[in-house]
Amino acid sequence: MHEVGFIGYGSMGRMLVNGLLSSGAVAPADVIISTRTTAKLDSLARQWPSIAVTGDNRLAACETRILFICVKPLDTLPVLLDLIPVVSLETHIVSIAACVTISDLEQVFNGKITKVIPSITSEVREGVSLVCHNSKVCGKDAARVEALLQSIGQIAKISEGDFEVATDLTSCAPGMIAAMFENFVGAALRHGDLAVEVAQRMVVSTLLGTAKLLAERNMGFSELIDRVATKGGITAEGVKVLNHHLPAVFDEVFEKTLTQHETVKEMVKNQNVTQVAMR
Ligand SMILES: NC(=O)c1ccc[n+]([C@@H]2O[C@H](COP(=O)([O-])OP(=O)(O)OC[C@H]3O[C@@H](n4cnc5c(N)ncnc54)[C@H](OP(=O)(O)O)[C@@H]3O)[C@@H](O)[C@H]2O)c1
Repeated sequence: MHEVGFIGYGSMGRMLVNGLLSSGAVAPADVIISTRTTAKLDSLARQWPSIAVTGDNRLAACETRILFICVKPLDTLPVLLDLIPVVSLETHIVSIAACVTISDLEQVFNGKITKVIPSITSEVREGVSLVCHNSKVCGKDAARVEALLQSIGQIAKISEGDFEVATDLTSCAPGMIAAMFENFVGAALRHGDLAVEVAQRMVVSTLLGTAKLLAERNMGFSELIDRVATKGGITAEGVKVLNHHLPAVFDEVFEKTLTQHETVKEMVKNQNVTQVAMR
């Protein structure tokens, strides 16, 4: 019996497996991982010799207490369906796929299901995993999965209806923040003679310091702005420009991402993957 299993060892699977092992939240001997390209597991198996690795998803799923499914959204229901002949109703399925709803998963598996949207920032034990359990998950099961996720960052238990907006703020945000600051640096380079690495280092260190001030000093955004943007000063001019343009920019960001969510959700539903037989 394995405590935790994973199917899919891509960007997120790798982050979760390595995070949970290095935090000590789960022992290597209690973990089994299956993925399509098993060569990608070689270095993991060398690092943690007692971990079980396989290319057989059913082997990872049978007799595993908590099973994380870490494949792309359109692969999630077919992968789960294939496991139905071997997976027990005692297994707790944790799906991390965007746009695959708990109801989609329940069409295939009639047991304990948790939907999680992790963030790449958990690679450094920061950031927020979004969590929502179905009605079959009891308090003890919920606590076990939540404890695993809390070992690699914070969790936010929210209703499934809020997942899409919250996903922009947590899981998409590292990409969006990187894009914003790439543009910030780009503008600095167009207006001066700094070397790109120098400008990047300045911005990254400032980002880290800003996050620390907001988190560790419990400062609100407005308080921080007030501390820096003194009336009639230089920062205030920049903040005025940002406040003029950014509301429309971020409205468009949400409009586009929410539309994309709907498109992929529709594609998932149109797969018409439903349970054939349940053990
Ligand atoms: N990336 C993010 O920041 C992020 C954040 C939150 C949630 N998510 C969700 O996380 C999920 C995974 O995303 P990702 O970025 O990790 O994708 P990814 O890097 O493409 O990883 C997917 C993994 O699944 C494996 N796989 C595909 N089909 C399989 C099968 N039938 N059996 C076993 N393994 C299979 C792939 O194998 P190969 O190596 O052979 O391709 C790959 O290793 C997605 O559903 C996404 O919505 C991602």
